[in-house]
Amino acid sequence: MKATDLLTIGEVSRRSGLATSTLRYYETLGLIRSSRTAGDRRRYPRAVLRRLAVVRSAQNVGLSLDEIVSTLSELDPDAAPTKKQWSRISAQWRPLLAQRISDLEAIRDNLDSCIGCGCLSMRQCALYNPQDELGDQGSGPRRKVPVLDEDPHG
Ligand code: FES
Repeated sequence: MKATDLLTIGEVSRRSGLATSTLRYYETLGLIRSSRTAGDRRRYPRAVLRRLAVVRSAQNVGLSLDEIVSTLSELDPDAAPTKKQWSRISAQWRPLLAQRISDLEAIRDNLDSCIGCGCLSMRQCALYNPQDELGDQGSGPRRKVPVLDEDPHG
């Protein structure tokens, strides 16, 4: 790869609209990769811009960084995703999107019963306790209330 094919972190930042700190963070996650100059400066292949476009698209879809890392780990880190790869990746996101839509619809439906209520009851409120998490542990109180040894006012 010719040196002119490589971009500095500042150039990648300007072209992608991402802060240099974000680029360094993405690099620690393995989303992008750089090489180093003799002076220990980062240099990115031009393909990093396409890779960052995929990251941005995935974030717009609502994928977590863990999910994006998993998806991009299947691709060559130094090459732009091909049309075929992009098609396959976006197809993988469809069921994730469907699940998120379903989850959001459930939250919306539960919100209807909360409007004007404000109780945030562990027993009744499906928004506050959506899976009735403590209810799975049995009936009755499930959380310990700290007991004071002494009366603080005594
Ligand atoms: S706030 Fe009362 S049921 Fe959700």
